[in-house]
Amino acid sequence: MKILVTGGTGYIGSHTCVELLKEGHAVVILDNLRNSKAAVLEPVAALGGGTPVFVEGDMRDRPLLDSIFARHAPDAVIHFAGLKCVPESILNPLDYYNTNLYGTVTLLEAMQAAGCKNFVFSSSATVYGSKNSVPFHEEMPTGTATNPYGTTKIMIEQILRDYAAAQPAASICLLRYFNPVGAHPSGKLGESPNGVPNNIMPLIADVARGRLPALQITGTDFETPDGTGVRDYIHVVDLALGHMKALEKICGSTGVSVYNLGTGKGVSVLELVRAFEQVSGVTLPKVFAPCRPGDVAVCYADTSKAARELGWKAQRSVDDMCRDTWNYSRLREDLIN
Ligand code: NAD
Ligand code: WQD
Repeated sequence: MKILVTGGTGYIGSHTCVELLKEGHAVVILDNLRNSKAAVLEPVAALGGGTPVFVEGDMRDRPLLDSIFARHAPDAVIHFAGLKCVPESILNPLDYYNTNLYGTVTLLEAMQAAGCKNFVFSSSATVYGSKNSVPFHEEMPTGTATNPYGTTKIMIEQILRDYAAAQPAASICLLRYFNPVGAHPSGKLGESPNGVPNNIMPLIADVARGRLPALQITGTDFETPDGTGVRDYIHVVDLALGHMKALEKICGSTGVSVYNLGTGKGVSVLELVRAFEQVSGVTLPKVFAPCRPGDVAVCYADTSKAARELGWKAQRSVDDMCRDTWNYSRLREDLIN
Protein backbone atom coordinates (compact mmCIF):
# COMPACT_ATOMS: atom_id res chain seq x y z
CA MET A 1 0.00 0.00 0.00
CA LYS A 2 0.95 3.64 -0.22
CA ILE A 3 0.82 5.41 3.12
CA LEU A 4 0.94 9.14 3.85
CA VAL A 5 2.68 9.62 7.19
CA THR A 6 2.25 13.07 8.69
CA GLY A 7 4.94 13.81 11.27
CA GLY A 8 7.01 11.01 9.77
CA THR A 9 10.39 12.51 10.67
CA GLY A 10 9.35 12.74 14.33
CA TYR A 11 10.10 10.24 17.06
CA ILE A 12 7.27 7.72 16.69
CA GLY A 13 6.65 8.50 13.02
CA SER A 14 10.23 7.73 11.98
CA HIS A 15 10.20 4.32 13.71
CA THR A 16 6.83 3.55 12.11
CA CYS A 17 8.17 4.51 8.66
CA VAL A 18 10.98 1.97 9.13
CA GLU A 19 8.46 -0.80 9.82
CA LEU A 20 6.23 0.30 6.91
CA LEU A 21 9.18 0.23 4.50
CA LYS A 22 10.30 -3.14 5.87
CA GLU A 23 6.84 -4.52 5.04
CA GLY A 24 7.17 -3.22 1.48
CA HIS A 25 4.78 -0.26 1.73
CA ALA A 26 5.47 2.94 -0.21
CA VAL A 27 5.78 5.85 2.22
CA VAL A 28 5.19 9.56 1.72
CA ILE A 29 6.19 11.72 4.67
CA LEU A 30 4.78 15.18 5.30
CA ASP A 31 6.56 17.10 8.06
CA ASN A 32 7.39 20.77 8.60
CA LEU A 33 10.44 19.85 10.76
CA ARG A 34 9.17 21.92 13.65
CA ASN A 35 10.26 19.20 16.08
CA SER A 36 12.48 16.94 13.98
CA LYS A 37 15.33 16.93 11.52
CA ALA A 38 15.50 15.88 7.87
CA ALA A 39 18.68 13.98 8.77
CA VAL A 40 16.55 11.12 10.16
CA LEU A 41 15.49 10.28 6.60
CA GLU A 42 18.82 8.58 5.97
CA PRO A 43 18.60 6.07 8.85
CA VAL A 44 14.90 5.55 8.08
CA ALA A 45 15.78 4.53 4.51
CA ALA A 46 18.75 2.42 5.59
CA LEU A 47 16.85 0.56 8.32
CA GLY A 48 13.65 0.25 6.32
CA GLY A 49 15.31 -0.86 3.10
CA GLY A 50 13.46 1.67 0.95
CA THR A 51 13.33 5.39 0.36
CA PRO A 52 10.36 7.40 1.55
CA VAL A 53 9.20 10.42 -0.43
CA PHE A 54 9.71 13.45 1.81
CA VAL A 55 7.59 16.58 1.53
CA GLU A 56 8.66 19.41 3.79
CA GLY A 57 5.56 21.39 4.61
CA ASP A 58 2.73 22.17 6.96
CA MET A 59 -0.37 20.01 7.30
CA ARG A 60 -2.44 23.20 7.56
CA ASP A 61 -1.47 24.06 3.97
CA ARG A 62 -4.53 22.80 2.08
CA PRO A 63 -3.18 23.36 -1.46
CA LEU A 64 -0.06 21.40 -0.49
CA LEU A 65 -2.20 18.56 0.88
CA ASP A 66 -4.33 18.52 -2.26
CA SER A 67 -1.21 18.26 -4.39
CA ILE A 68 0.10 15.36 -2.25
CA PHE A 69 -3.19 13.44 -2.55
CA ALA A 70 -3.39 14.16 -6.29
CA ARG A 71 0.20 13.11 -6.94
CA HIS A 72 0.53 10.10 -4.64
CA ALA A 73 -3.05 8.86 -4.06
CA PRO A 74 -2.28 7.25 -0.70
CA ASP A 75 -4.41 4.31 0.43
CA ALA A 76 -4.19 5.39 4.06
CA VAL A 77 -2.95 8.17 6.30
CA ILE A 78 -1.13 7.70 9.61
CA HIS A 79 -1.41 11.01 11.38
CA PHE A 80 1.42 11.70 13.84
CA ALA A 81 1.99 15.39 13.11
CA GLY A 82 1.26 17.78 15.92
CA LEU A 83 2.60 19.47 18.99
CA LYS A 84 2.99 17.34 22.13
CA CYS A 85 4.67 19.29 24.91
CA VAL A 86 2.34 19.65 27.90
CA PRO A 87 3.95 22.71 29.59
CA GLU A 88 4.32 24.48 26.23
CA SER A 89 0.62 23.89 25.57
CA ILE A 90 -0.26 25.66 28.81
CA LEU A 91 1.86 28.66 27.78
CA ASN A 92 0.74 28.73 24.12
CA PRO A 93 -2.71 27.13 23.95
CA LEU A 94 -3.66 28.82 20.66
CA ASP A 95 -0.59 27.39 18.97
CA TYR A 96 -1.68 23.92 20.13
CA TYR A 97 -5.31 24.34 19.08
CA ASN A 98 -4.29 25.83 15.76
CA THR A 99 -1.72 23.15 14.91
CA ASN A 100 -3.39 20.06 16.31
CA LEU A 101 -7.05 20.85 15.64
CA TYR A 102 -6.89 22.98 12.51
CA GLY A 103 -4.13 20.73 11.15
CA THR A 104 -6.23 17.59 11.62
CA VAL A 105 -9.39 19.18 10.20
CA THR A 106 -7.49 20.42 7.12
CA LEU A 107 -6.01 16.95 6.62
CA LEU A 108 -9.46 15.34 6.88
CA GLU A 109 -10.91 17.83 4.40
CA ALA A 110 -8.16 17.01 1.91
CA MET A 111 -8.67 13.26 2.47
CA GLN A 112 -12.40 13.56 1.99
CA ALA A 113 -11.94 15.55 -1.22
CA ALA A 114 -9.49 12.95 -2.52
CA GLY A 115 -11.61 9.96 -1.47
CA CYS A 116 -8.96 8.51 0.85
CA LYS A 117 -10.77 6.48 3.53
CA ASN A 118 -8.31 4.94 5.97
CA PHE A 119 -6.95 6.98 8.86
CA VAL A 120 -4.86 6.09 11.92
CA PHE A 121 -4.59 8.71 14.63
CA SER A 122 -1.98 9.12 17.39
CA SER A 123 -4.11 9.56 20.45
CA SER A 124 -2.90 9.32 24.01
CA ALA A 125 -3.66 7.74 27.38
CA THR A 126 -4.12 11.33 28.53
CA VAL A 127 -7.74 11.09 27.24
CA TYR A 128 -8.63 8.84 30.20
CA GLY A 129 -8.21 11.87 32.53
CA SER A 130 -7.78 11.53 36.28
CA LYS A 131 -11.14 10.02 37.34
CA ASN A 132 -10.96 6.57 35.74
CA SER A 133 -9.20 3.79 37.64
CA VAL A 134 -6.41 1.63 36.28
CA PRO A 135 -6.05 -0.35 34.16
CA PHE A 136 -7.58 1.97 31.57
CA HIS A 137 -9.71 0.19 28.99
CA GLU A 138 -11.10 1.51 25.75
CA GLU A 139 -14.76 1.45 26.80
CA MET A 140 -14.18 3.85 29.72
CA PRO A 141 -15.55 7.37 29.26
CA THR A 142 -12.83 9.81 28.28
CA GLY A 143 -12.06 12.32 31.00
CA THR A 144 -11.21 16.00 31.17
CA ALA A 145 -7.64 16.87 30.33
CA THR A 146 -5.59 19.03 32.70
CA ASN A 147 -3.84 20.87 29.84
CA PRO A 148 -4.54 22.13 26.31
CA TYR A 149 -2.40 19.41 24.72
CA GLY A 150 -4.58 16.71 26.29
CA THR A 151 -7.70 18.63 25.35
CA THR A 152 -6.65 18.58 21.68
CA LYS A 153 -6.46 14.76 21.82
CA ILE A 154 -9.94 14.48 23.35
CA MET A 155 -11.33 16.96 20.81
CA ILE A 156 -9.68 15.28 17.84
CA GLU A 157 -11.10 11.90 18.91
CA GLN A 158 -14.55 13.54 18.90
CA ILE A 159 -13.94 15.22 15.53
CA LEU A 160 -12.96 11.84 14.08
CA ARG A 161 -16.08 10.14 15.48
CA ASP A 162 -18.27 12.89 13.99
CA TYR A 163 -16.43 12.65 10.68
CA ALA A 164 -16.88 8.86 10.55
CA ALA A 165 -20.59 9.21 11.36
CA ALA A 166 -20.99 11.51 8.38
CA GLN A 167 -18.74 9.45 6.09
CA PRO A 168 -19.88 5.83 6.41
CA ALA A 169 -17.12 4.58 4.08
CA ALA A 170 -14.39 6.01 6.32
CA SER A 171 -12.28 3.71 8.50
CA ILE A 172 -10.69 5.41 11.48
CA CYS A 173 -8.44 3.97 14.15
CA LEU A 174 -7.68 5.83 17.39
CA LEU A 175 -4.48 4.47 18.93
CA ARG A 176 -4.05 5.56 22.53
CA TYR A 177 -0.36 5.43 23.32
CA PHE A 178 0.81 5.11 26.90
CA ASN A 179 4.41 6.28 27.54
CA PRO A 180 6.55 5.72 24.44
CA VAL A 181 10.27 5.42 25.19
CA GLY A 182 13.37 3.71 23.80
CA ALA A 183 14.97 3.86 20.39
CA HIS A 184 15.72 1.65 17.42
CA PRO A 185 18.01 -1.22 18.56
CA SER A 186 20.55 -0.21 15.89
CA GLY A 187 21.14 3.01 17.84
CA LYS A 188 20.61 4.97 14.60
CA LEU A 189 17.15 6.32 15.29
CA GLY A 190 15.57 7.63 18.47
CA GLU A 191 13.99 10.59 20.18
CA SER A 192 15.59 13.94 19.38
CA PRO A 193 13.20 16.72 20.33
CA ASN A 194 14.20 20.30 19.52
CA GLY A 195 14.96 22.10 22.79
CA VAL A 196 14.98 20.76 26.35
CA PRO A 197 12.99 17.53 26.71
CA ASN A 198 10.30 17.23 29.34
CA ASN A 199 9.57 13.51 29.26
CA ILE A 200 11.40 11.29 31.70
CA MET A 201 13.44 9.04 29.37
CA PRO A 202 15.19 11.75 27.30
CA LEU A 203 15.82 13.59 30.57
CA ILE A 204 17.44 10.48 32.07
CA ALA A 205 19.60 10.14 28.95
CA ASP A 206 20.63 13.80 29.15
CA VAL A 207 21.64 13.42 32.81
CA ALA A 208 23.57 10.24 31.99
CA ARG A 209 25.45 12.08 29.20
CA GLY A 210 26.27 14.94 31.56
CA ARG A 211 24.07 17.39 29.64
CA LEU A 212 21.97 18.02 32.74
CA PRO A 213 23.33 18.11 36.29
CA ALA A 214 20.69 15.90 37.94
CA LEU A 215 17.39 14.13 37.38
CA GLN A 216 14.48 15.70 39.20
CA ILE A 217 12.17 13.02 40.56
CA THR A 218 8.90 14.88 40.47
CA GLY A 219 6.65 13.46 43.17
CA THR A 220 7.63 11.16 46.01
CA ASP A 221 4.40 10.86 47.98
CA PHE A 222 2.01 9.42 45.42
CA GLU A 223 -0.04 6.45 46.59
CA THR A 224 2.27 3.96 44.89
CA PRO A 225 4.59 1.30 46.38
CA ASP A 226 7.66 3.60 46.40
CA GLY A 227 5.86 6.98 46.32
CA THR A 228 6.93 7.89 42.76
CA GLY A 229 4.65 8.02 39.71
CA VAL A 230 3.81 4.78 37.94
CA ARG A 231 3.52 4.66 34.14
CA ASP A 232 3.14 2.14 31.35
CA TYR A 233 6.37 2.62 29.36
CA ILE A 234 6.25 1.11 25.90
CA HIS A 235 9.18 0.57 23.54
CA VAL A 236 8.82 2.72 20.42
CA VAL A 237 9.48 -0.27 18.13
CA ASP A 238 6.61 -2.21 19.75
CA LEU A 239 4.48 0.89 19.25
CA ALA A 240 5.48 1.13 15.57
CA LEU A 241 4.56 -2.54 15.11
CA GLY A 242 1.16 -1.80 16.67
CA HIS A 243 0.55 0.63 13.79
CA MET A 244 1.21 -2.13 11.25
CA LYS A 245 -1.45 -4.28 12.90
CA ALA A 246 -3.89 -1.38 13.11
CA LEU A 247 -3.43 -0.61 9.42
CA GLU A 248 -4.08 -4.24 8.46
CA LYS A 249 -7.21 -4.24 10.57
CA ILE A 250 -8.80 -1.02 9.34
CA CYS A 251 -8.07 -1.10 5.62
CA GLY A 252 -11.14 -2.63 4.01
CA SER A 253 -13.24 -1.99 7.10
CA THR A 254 -15.41 0.99 8.13
CA GLY A 255 -16.25 2.92 11.29
CA VAL A 256 -14.15 3.90 14.31
CA SER A 257 -12.00 1.51 16.31
CA VAL A 258 -10.02 2.36 19.45
CA TYR A 259 -7.00 0.54 20.88
CA ASN A 260 -4.67 1.08 23.80
CA LEU A 261 -1.02 0.60 22.90
CA GLY A 262 0.83 -0.10 26.12
CA THR A 263 2.42 -3.07 27.90
CA GLY A 264 -0.20 -3.32 30.64
CA LYS A 265 2.54 -3.06 33.28
CA GLY A 266 3.08 -0.14 35.64
CA VAL A 267 6.69 0.89 36.35
CA SER A 268 7.64 3.54 38.91
CA VAL A 269 10.10 6.36 38.27
CA LEU A 270 12.56 4.79 40.71
CA GLU A 271 12.25 1.39 39.02
CA LEU A 272 12.89 2.99 35.62
CA VAL A 273 15.89 4.91 36.95
CA ARG A 274 17.32 1.76 38.55
CA ALA A 275 16.92 -0.19 35.30
CA PHE A 276 18.68 2.58 33.35
CA GLU A 277 21.53 2.72 35.87
CA GLN A 278 21.97 -1.04 35.64
CA VAL A 279 22.09 -1.29 31.83
CA SER A 280 24.22 1.85 31.37
CA GLY A 281 26.52 1.42 34.37
CA VAL A 282 26.02 5.14 35.09
CA THR A 283 24.77 6.32 38.48
CA LEU A 284 22.39 9.23 37.93
CA PRO A 285 22.53 12.22 40.25
CA LYS A 286 18.97 12.72 41.52
CA VAL A 287 17.05 15.39 43.35
CA PHE A 288 13.60 14.90 44.82
CA ALA A 289 11.03 17.53 43.87
CA PRO A 290 7.30 18.12 44.36
CA CYS A 291 4.96 16.53 41.85
CA ARG A 292 4.07 18.47 38.69
CA PRO A 293 0.61 20.00 38.68
CA GLY A 294 -1.98 17.71 37.09
CA ASP A 295 0.17 14.54 37.28
CA VAL A 296 -1.71 11.35 38.08
CA ALA A 297 -0.17 8.78 40.44
CA VAL A 298 -0.70 5.70 38.28
CA CYS A 299 -1.42 5.14 34.59
CA TYR A 300 -1.34 1.81 32.79
CA ALA A 301 -3.29 0.09 30.05
CA ASP A 302 -5.63 -2.80 29.76
CA THR A 303 -4.08 -4.28 26.61
CA SER A 304 -6.50 -7.16 26.08
CA LYS A 305 -8.45 -5.53 23.23
CA ALA A 306 -5.35 -4.94 21.10
CA ALA A 307 -4.20 -8.51 21.80
CA ARG A 308 -7.60 -9.96 20.93
CA GLU A 309 -8.50 -7.87 17.89
CA LEU A 310 -5.14 -6.82 16.44
CA GLY A 311 -3.08 -9.83 17.50
CA TRP A 312 -0.57 -7.34 18.90
CA LYS A 313 1.30 -7.44 22.19
CA ALA A 314 4.33 -5.43 23.27
CA GLN A 315 7.39 -7.70 23.45
CA ARG A 316 10.24 -5.47 24.65
CA SER A 317 11.27 -5.11 28.32
CA VAL A 318 12.11 -2.06 30.40
CA ASP A 319 15.77 -3.10 30.15
CA ASP A 320 15.47 -3.08 26.33
CA MET A 321 13.93 0.41 26.49
CA CYS A 322 16.80 1.70 28.65
CA ARG A 323 19.56 -0.04 26.67
CA ASP A 324 18.28 1.24 23.32
CA THR A 325 17.85 4.80 24.65
CA TRP A 326 21.38 4.75 26.03
CA ASN A 327 22.89 3.37 22.79
CA TYR A 328 21.12 5.98 20.71
CA SER A 329 21.99 8.89 22.95
CA ARG A 330 25.70 8.05 22.64
CA LEU A 331 25.74 7.08 18.95
CA ARG A 332 23.67 9.91 17.49
CA GLU A 333 24.86 13.03 19.30
CA ASP A 334 24.49 14.75 15.90
CA LEU A 335 20.71 14.21 15.87
CA ILE A 336 20.19 15.13 19.52
CA ASN A 337 20.57 18.78 20.51
P1 NAD B 1 7.36 14.41 17.54
O1 NAD B 1 7.29 15.83 17.94
O2 NAD B 1 8.67 13.73 17.56
O3 NAD B 1 6.70 14.21 16.09
C1 NAD B 1 5.69 15.05 15.60
C2 NAD B 1 6.13 15.55 14.24
O4 NAD B 1 5.12 16.43 13.73
C3 NAD B 1 7.43 16.34 14.27
O5 NAD B 1 8.34 15.79 13.36
C4 NAD B 1 7.01 17.76 13.86
O6 NAD B 1 8.03 18.43 13.14
C5 NAD B 1 5.78 17.48 13.04
N1 NAD B 1 4.85 18.61 12.95
C6 NAD B 1 4.44 19.43 13.95
N2 NAD B 1 3.58 20.35 13.48
C7 NAD B 1 3.43 20.09 12.16
C8 NAD B 1 2.66 20.70 11.13
N3 NAD B 1 1.89 21.76 11.36
N4 NAD B 1 2.75 20.19 9.88
C9 NAD B 1 3.55 19.13 9.61
N5 NAD B 1 4.30 18.51 10.56
C10 NAD B 1 4.23 18.98 11.82
O7 NAD B 1 6.30 13.62 18.47
P2 NAD B 1 6.10 12.08 18.68
O8 NAD B 1 6.52 11.74 20.06
O9 NAD B 1 6.64 11.31 17.54
O10 NAD B 1 4.51 12.03 18.66
C11 NAD B 1 3.78 11.72 17.49
C12 NAD B 1 2.31 11.80 17.80
O11 NAD B 1 2.01 10.92 18.87
C13 NAD B 1 1.86 13.20 18.25
O12 NAD B 1 0.58 13.44 17.71
C14 NAD B 1 1.77 13.06 19.75
O13 NAD B 1 0.84 13.93 20.31
C15 NAD B 1 1.32 11.61 19.89
N6 NAD B 1 1.68 11.03 21.18
C16 NAD B 1 2.97 11.08 21.62
C17 NAD B 1 3.30 10.57 22.86
C18 NAD B 1 4.71 10.68 23.38
O14 NAD B 1 4.90 10.60 24.59
N7 NAD B 1 5.71 10.81 22.53
C19 NAD B 1 2.31 9.97 23.66
C20 NAD B 1 1.00 9.92 23.18
C21 NAD B 1 0.69 10.45 21.92
C1 WQD C 1 6.64 10.13 33.42
C2 WQD C 1 6.92 9.99 34.91
C3 WQD C 1 6.68 11.99 36.22
C4 WQD C 1 9.88 14.29 34.42
C5 WQD C 1 3.31 12.79 29.22
C6 WQD C 1 2.06 13.46 28.72
C7 WQD C 1 1.19 12.45 28.03
C8 WQD C 1 1.97 11.70 26.94
C9 WQD C 1 3.24 11.12 27.49
C10 WQD C 1 1.90 12.73 24.83
C11 WQD C 1 5.93 10.73 35.80
C12 WQD C 1 8.12 11.53 36.21
C13 WQD C 1 8.99 13.28 34.71
C14 WQD C 1 10.91 14.60 35.36
C15 WQD C 1 10.10 12.84 36.78
N1 WQD C 1 2.43 12.57 25.91
N2 WQD C 1 9.08 12.60 35.89
N3 WQD C 1 10.98 13.85 36.50
O1 WQD C 1 3.57 12.87 32.29
O2 WQD C 1 3.22 10.35 32.11
O3 WQD C 1 2.95 11.77 30.14
O4 WQD C 1 3.99 12.16 28.12
O5 WQD C 1 0.79 12.37 24.53
O6 WQD C 1 0.10 13.14 27.50
O7 WQD C 1 1.37 14.02 29.82
O8 WQD C 1 5.21 11.41 30.99
O9 WQD C 1 7.65 11.29 30.80
O10 WQD C 1 6.59 13.47 31.52
O11 WQD C 1 6.56 11.52 33.08
O12 WQD C 1 10.21 12.21 37.85
O13 WQD C 1 11.73 15.49 35.16
O14 WQD C 1 8.20 10.57 35.17
O15 WQD C 1 6.31 12.41 37.52
O16 WQD C 1 5.67 9.91 36.90
P1 WQD C 1 3.70 11.63 31.52
P2 WQD C 1 6.59 11.98 31.54
